[in-house]
Amino acid sequence: MPIQIIPTDAALGAEIRGADLAQPLDDADFAAIERAYNDYGVIFFRDQRITPPQQVAFTRRFGEIEFNIFGERWSVPGSPEIVVVSNAIEEGRPIGVRRAGENWHSDMCYTARPPRGTMLYALEIPDLCGLTLGDTEFASAAAAWDALPDKLRQRIDGRRAVFDFAGRKRAFPPTQTEIDRNPPVTHPIVRSHPFTGRKCLYVMRDDCTGIEGIAAEEAEALVAALADHIVKPAFIYRHQWRQGDLLMWDNCTVQHRAIQDYDLPQRRLMYRTTMGGAVPM
Ligand code: OGA
Ligand code: MN
Repeated sequence: MPIQIIPTDAALGAEIRGADLAQPLDDADFAAIERAYNDYGVIFFRDQRITPPQQVAFTRRFGEIEFNIFGERWSVPGSPEIVVVSNAIEEGRPIGVRRAGENWHSDMCYTARPPRGTMLYALEIPDLCGLTLGDTEFASAAAAWDALPDKLRQRIDGRRAVFDFAGRKRAFPPTQTEIDRNPPVTHPIVRSHPFTGRKCLYVMRDDCTGIEGIAAEEAEALVAALADHIVKPAFIYRHQWRQGDLLMWDNCTVQHRAIQDYDLPQRRLMYRTTMGGAVPM
């Protein structure tokens, strides 16, 4: 069956049909998938049945696997490349990272080379008497840039924001180890996608602690206004998960957040892989 790409009716996101990720993909099919990924920012495949090594192999086609600090504690046995994201507790012990990112963010934006993208494979999805919980929301920071007035574009284009882990506003304050591992970095607040060249905003309320060349107060107001702008309803796709979904997002053009509307005994279990990216330009 040929690959079909079915865009969502939102500003981003497409479903890919006709791909069985348990089988090796030929180069033409992979190229079509990669193009859709770059163009739509979020792509997903329904009804997949894949093993951890198959997920790792598929991730590797997009770039080097990025190992992150969670993996040291929460990887899948035998597959150190995969991080378990879950709220479940077994034998009195959490089986994965629970903190899934409830505030809008782009993964690891506080590092010098943030990952190209992140992939989640859904093994268990919480539901309440048939009502699906634990959705993930995605916002197109590219559509948000497109919609900015020229005057504001001119104010921010070419500027760099400071991402300082130590000054980060989060529900969980960073530990000293995290601070030591993540010295402050700067990134352009208007990025160009490394494959398509499409421009997008790269501003996160929790992580951007300042903008170079702009006084602190104005910078804070700009970060807040831009962060709010990115997540306006017109730029959002909300993914309602089904078991067997494999979904991946682009960390340049897309921000995301986990909807935390469930709790034990409802279980959520995802296998997460991350692929390395380039220095933001
Ligand atoms: C992540 C993340 C969201 C979710 O894994 O980086 O933000 O819904 N996950 O699990
Ligand atoms: Mn995340």
